[in-house]
Amino acid sequence: MDNKHFKRTLITTALPYANGPVHIGHLAGVYVPADIYARYLRLRGEDVVMVGGSDEHGVPITIRARKEGITPQDVVDRYHKIIKDSFEGLGISFDVYSRTTSETHAETASEFFRHLYDNGEFVEKPSMQFYDEGAGRFVTDRNVVGECPVCHAQGAYGDQCEKCGSSLNATELINPRCAETGNVPVLRETYHWYLPLDRWQDTLSKWILDGHKEWKTNVYGQCKSWIDLGLQPRAVTRDLDWGIPVPVEGADGKVLYVWFDAPIGYISNTKELLPDTWQTYWKDPETRIINFIGKDNIVFHCIIFPAMLLAYGDGYQLPDNVPANEFLNLEGDKISTSRNWAVWLHEYLADMPGKQDVLRYVLTANAPETKDNDFTWRDFQARNNNELVAILGNFVNRAMVLTHKYFDGIVPAAGDLAQADKDALAEMESIKSALSESLDTFHFRDALREAMNFARLGNKYLQETEPWKLAKTDMGRVATILNIALQICGNIAVAFEPFMPFMSEKLSRMLGMGNMTWNELATADVVKAGTELSAPELLFEKIDDEGIRPQIERLERIKKENQINNWHAEPQAPDVDFDTFCRADLRVGTVLDCQKVPKADKLLQFTIDDGLGQRTIVSGIAQYYQPEQLKGKQVVFIANLPPRKLRGITSQGMILSALNADGSLTVISPDAPITPGAQVK
Ligand code: MF3
Ligand code: ZN
Repeated sequence: MDNKHFKRTLITTALPYANGPVHIGHLAGVYVPADIYARYLRLRGEDVVMVGGSDEHGVPITIRARKEGITPQDVVDRYHKIIKDSFEGLGISFDVYSRTTSETHAETASEFFRHLYDNGEFVEKPSMQFYDEGAGRFVTDRNVVGECPVCHAQGAYGDQCEKCGSSLNATELINPRCAETGNVPVLRETYHWYLPLDRWQDTLSKWILDGHKEWKTNVYGQCKSWIDLGLQPRAVTRDLDWGIPVPVEGADGKVLYVWFDAPIGYISNTKELLPDTWQTYWKDPETRIINFIGKDNIVFHCIIFPAMLLAYGDGYQLPDNVPANEFLNLEGDKISTSRNWAVWLHEYLADMPGKQDVLRYVLTANAPETKDNDFTWRDFQARNNNELVAILGNFVNRAMVLTHKYFDGIVPAAGDLAQADKDALAEMESIKSALSESLDTFHFRDALREAMNFARLGNKYLQETEPWKLAKTDMGRVATILNIALQICGNIAVAFEPFMPFMSEKLSRMLGMGNMTWNELATADVVKAGTELSAPELLFEKIDDEGIRPQIERLERIKKENQINNWHAEPQAPDVDFDTFCRADLRVGTVLDCQKVPKADKLLQFTIDDGLGQRTIVSGIAQYYQPEQLKGKQVVFIANLPPRKLRGITSQGMILSALNADGSLTVISPDAPITPGAQVK
């Protein structure tokens, strides 16, 4: 724990958008770490409240509703239920999980806005905004697409170009179009209320840059670069018909910006949970507030929401820490809701019943704490088999079986301790302190590794003391050894409760333990002598290849589908002028030789007769052709690309292929033999 004295902790978790289910990226970044932390503090007997809820406003929900021909409320009702149920299924122990369409939230957020409005905390400004005349509505920057003015990529969004990363205003796009309707938008005057972040520049700078140097470097760094750039006023209203109406006369057709109302949701949720005492959790300086979020939410939690709280005044406290995580990828690719490239929690729970803890374990072991990380089904399987089954499950099972064998399942009392026993107890002490230290500082991966050390210690201890060899000669010794082994099992039940609550519950039941507390850890009295153990049950089951095959196949199928969708859905590229087109020197060449590039699955190396001589071209089509199939064939290539090195080979040009719907490539070839070097026009 940090030095500051505190009496209670309020844990907030980013409110997931209710326009889709939650996936493993959300879990690894936010909900699993928050849950570990909350459970840990509860075991320590702290006063802790963990709040969450669905974020049910915002433009994407309205778009989804229009696409499906239903109302935005239908959309959020559907996903709120899926999200809430699946969190529960995974054992995420929210004290309250509500939603931003709740009555309490509408009141709280309106009052919040109105309070700032009445106190002159906003500035009102006219602006020009894109308007879709065909659809009769304003279009947000995000929903205008066009050519990036910086890198000239197509399909840049009005707020940002994903190719070059530039932040944009929609009005800067070249050839803007409304993403949803394809209409050419027109500019219309409107006005909005802005939160003048510049007024809070100094306060925020002191608070974070001077006051919170202990924050994670990714969080601190992002805040610093925002503050160094100089904070700008931010619009907190939108012209939209879905959201909380702006509580000001004459502001018809305007709602609170989703990022204004959503974080107030933390307050509304606390109110719903504790109608009488919620203020203590927000306004008492002895409350510690921790915001669990992903890295894309940092500026909202560290700059904008704090500025809102400061502007409101009335004792609202700022967060003590915002341990934001990086992103989790899936099988090497960025998780994407729209491309269905995700492992959805509700599907996981249905497909892998009883395996909640395995997912919690794997996501924690791979938590993207300091850098982006990757989830793969192979790793999932390996961690289950090599760690949960082979180390943890195995140890507990040995201790249980031996106790049943030698003591009829009654926990034996320990006698005098030998050196090995004392060493084991000392080791437990040091695991406990490293574990607590890691948990206190939000290093959950390290913490999990420490917890696992209890199981490693247990295996080592049994290996060294070999009680099965002593059974004939020294039952007193066997009793002591098994007592200690069972204490280690009890420690495992406690230490893993935050990480794997289902396993912990089962194990503590098997061991006849009562209520668990963190204090008991590292003591030799977690499991009481004389207790009758239940029959040993396996804590984890091996997962064979068949067990993960449906998952892997599902992802392969989605990859294919996405390729097909892209193929059909990708808009035609905008016009290029004829001169630009002519600058590409396309030629026919004859393949003289073709070889696989060693150690590169995708590459083939061609030697081409280009009419003047020979040139080398490397092409990424090895998955679709055997080199022999291409020898002697005529192909079309671009002759005037700058040479490029691929795997140490200088490639002089590019061979043209057509993309099939399944993602494979077919080489383009003239339909009659032609002199090498012939131009393609
Ligand atoms: N819905 C947002 C997201 O998923 C997070 C909102 S967090 C809150 O990125 F603070 F605004 F609630
Ligand atoms: Zn760009």
